[in-house]
Amino acid sequence: MDFLIESFKHWPTIGAFAPCSSAVAEKMTRPVDFSRARVLVEFGGGTGAITKTILARMRPDAELVSFELLPAFVSALKRIPDSRLTVVHDSAANLGAYLAAREIEKADAIISTLPVGTMNKALRARIFEEVKGALGTGGRYVQIQYSLLSWKEIKRNFPETSLDFTPRNFPPAFFYICER
Ligand SMILES: C[S@@+](CC[C@H](N)C(=O)[O-])C[C@H]1O[C@@H](n2cnc3c(N)ncnc32)[C@H](O)[C@@H]1O
Repeated sequence: MDFLIESFKHWPTIGAFAPCSSAVAEKMTRPVDFSRARVLVEFGGGTGAITKTILARMRPDAELVSFELLPAFVSALKRIPDSRLTVVHDSAANLGAYLAAREIEKADAIISTLPVGTMNKALRARIFEEVKGALGTGGRYVQIQYSLLSWKEIKRNFPETSLDFTPRNFPPAFFYICER
């Protein structure tokens, strides 16, 4: 399965021409306290570039729930041989309902490569509400961005947010690190 072909077919959903680089995976996982995190959530698992890094750093007794919309990517994610990973073929906008149905109280970290900057405003607002509802106190939400256009909106929703950046990706990427 070719990421580039998928991105031509589903550009608004994917919002990138290539899987995330290892530099991005490093930046997105660094803010997470893996020594304590038991429930981790990924938004936009894609081909698994970030998923595999999260799994490599997770505790043996932790679980990772990865939301992905596109069937080709869901199949790729399901081929990752790790019993701590659950792949959910659904929108990240349904995170709260998913956690409630499984009686999971809170997530310790949410790592997202969703194209929030280019998605419609109502969906973006819904995603932010889902994150706020799901993150436990002290939990972190890490969101990649390719511009700073949503900075004000992020700060309104997550006042405790800091910024990071890497040029080692195509395109170069910013990261919002939001604390609950
Ligand atoms: C920029 S791509 C990154 C994918 C992955 N991290 C990688 O490097 O291969 C964004 C991903 O978010 C997924 N996506 C977009 N909107 C979504 C939504 N509402 N819920 C779940 N996944 C979504 C896309 O299908 C795509 O796989």
